[in-house]
Amino acid sequence: MKILKAAAEMRAASRRTRTGGKRLGFVPTMGALHQGHLSLVQAAKAQSDVVAVSIFVNPTQFGPQEDFAKYPRTFERDCALLEKEGVEFVFAPSVDEMYPNGAVTYVIVERLSEKLCGRSRPGHFRGVTTVVSKLFHIVEPDWAFFGQKDAAQVAIIRRMVRDLDMPVEIVVCPIVRQPDGLAMSSRNTYLDPQQRKSALVLYRSLMRVEEVFRSGERNSAKLISAGKEVIAQEASARLDYLEVVDPDNLDFMPVISADALVAMAAFVGTTRLIDNVVLKA
Ligand code: PAJ
Repeated sequence: MKILKAAAEMRAASRRTRTGGKRLGFVPTMGALHQGHLSLVQAAKAQSDVVAVSIFVNPTQFGPQEDFAKYPRTFERDCALLEKEGVEFVFAPSVDEMYPNGAVTYVIVERLSEKLCGRSRPGHFRGVTTVVSKLFHIVEPDWAFFGQKDAAQVAIIRRMVRDLDMPVEIVVCPIVRQPDGLAMSSRNTYLDPQQRKSALVLYRSLMRVEEVFRSGERNSAKLISAGKEVIAQEASARLDYLEVVDPDNLDFMPVISADALVAMAAFVGTTRLIDNVVLKA
């Protein structure tokens, strides 16, 4: 496994791979890897000849009051895990390598980037789309693998790839959960044991929404209030949003007539967690 720090080195390695007739799969991450990330790597390995993973905690997607400085960084451990998965390339640039002095160019997916997490985290998706397009230009993958855990991120990146004719195919992988249902997240490490228990309320509330949907309810307002009742029972959780939207354009869906994304974000203590479920029409 080769660890590359320079964009030029990563691009050269990718071009050598592809001119050799091999197809390249790419998994962008911010490190602090867990089974959710590794499931993307495994999907990439299964489908591609060669796999590249990036590890870069991207400052432009964090707000000024957010956790950029304290975001977990476990580079040695991450590399050991990736080596075990048979990854060929790890691209781990510095902030200066990705954002040289004077960088002022951004990629913005209008409208979609103001929805869901974009509303409570202004500028977040601008940071995501900018760094992901830079990574695509550097790595030039045939396929890029993303998790359904970040469903809005998936919708926004798909839109960006279509709108800007980026020559990469987006592959989406299912949410990996702990046995009790909590979606795996690098931010779960912030939770103390009591908060870890409280955090289960996100999944519980989504399961309640799904149950009410299965019993025949198609009115989103009713589904949302069923989910909110569950959240309200957990004193240490504070809801940011719970919405029912179209999974492609993230528009509010008042009545469920096609597949619908139920997306939520909630604070447990000071930790902000997200989760979602898709209701199949
Ligand atoms: P990060 O949070 O490290 O996640 C990297 C990838 O792993 C994303 O596609 C995310 O959806 C996926 N992932 C995380 N937890 C998952 C889980 N429990 N199940 C399945 N997939 C999961 O998302 C980012 O980094 C960044 O925004 C990035 C795209 C790297 C741009 O900086």
